[in-house]
Amino acid sequence: MPKSSSTDEFTLPDSLSKAKPKVGLILGSGLGPFVDRVKCDAPVGYADIGGLPMSKVPGHSGTLHCGKLGGVEVAVAKGRVHCYEGWTAKEASSLVRLFHQMGVKVIVLTNAAGIVNANFKPGKWMLLSDHINFTGLSPLTGSSTFIDQSEVYSKPLRCLFREMAQELGLPLPAEGVYAWMNGPEYETPAEVKMLRSLGADAVGMSTVPEAIQARALGMEIVAMSCLTNYGAGLSGIPLSHDEVMEVGAKASSQLVDLLEKCVPQMV
Ligand code: HPA
Repeated sequence: MPKSSSTDEFTLPDSLSKAKPKVGLILGSGLGPFVDRVKCDAPVGYADIGGLPMSKVPGHSGTLHCGKLGGVEVAVAKGRVHCYEGWTAKEASSLVRLFHQMGVKVIVLTNAAGIVNANFKPGKWMLLSDHINFTGLSPLTGSSTFIDQSEVYSKPLRCLFREMAQELGLPLPAEGVYAWMNGPEYETPAEVKMLRSLGADAVGMSTVPEAIQARALGMEIVAMSCLTNYGAGLSGIPLSHDEVMEVGAKASSQLVDLLEKCVPQMV
């Protein structure tokens, strides 16, 4: 029998009813291989979770992996939907509400992003210190929820990630400001220049609706961008989705090591 109560937004299959994840992770483009490190019984397809939106792109429908990482119960979502596919910002943040329903208190958001600050390098990670929402969209639209956003991304968790990266001998992730653009087209060179002049370090098409939703639900957030490419106009090389996926996949093993060390200390 599927598990749900009258207040639950999502209907969970039996296989998930006993999962009590403390940390929830949402993986961005190219970061899927991370799930291989999670000791997971059997992934659950998003199609088996009632109420969860699914990408219409073939092969991108998404799976939820509940299991243990570094001894801590986690839920890892591989695949998310985006507003550029036609979903609302509320729909694009559904995984966060699913995690909240399952009891998650701390959330890790990852994404692939383009570089706007030319001091940063492709293949490196950036911890989000803040964001700028250039879409005008919000998952809270219609709710009159006036949440504080002075520290969306937890400072103590950012410190933890940097300390642990140092202990592991990994390159220290930079910190920076992520600009949310709707997409799906990549930016023009003029837009990349504008984003930089307004204080952004990286640009992408996800994460911000999830972060706003998670803050509204009182969760702690850490978010990381895999810097997959220079933004348009910074390198002269045309942007390609294949390149974004390839660089993301290569950088994913570093993130796996870092998360395995950080997750047990996040709860
Ligand atoms: N722009 C927007 N989104 C992205 C990019 C980019 O250059 N790279 C990866 N996701």
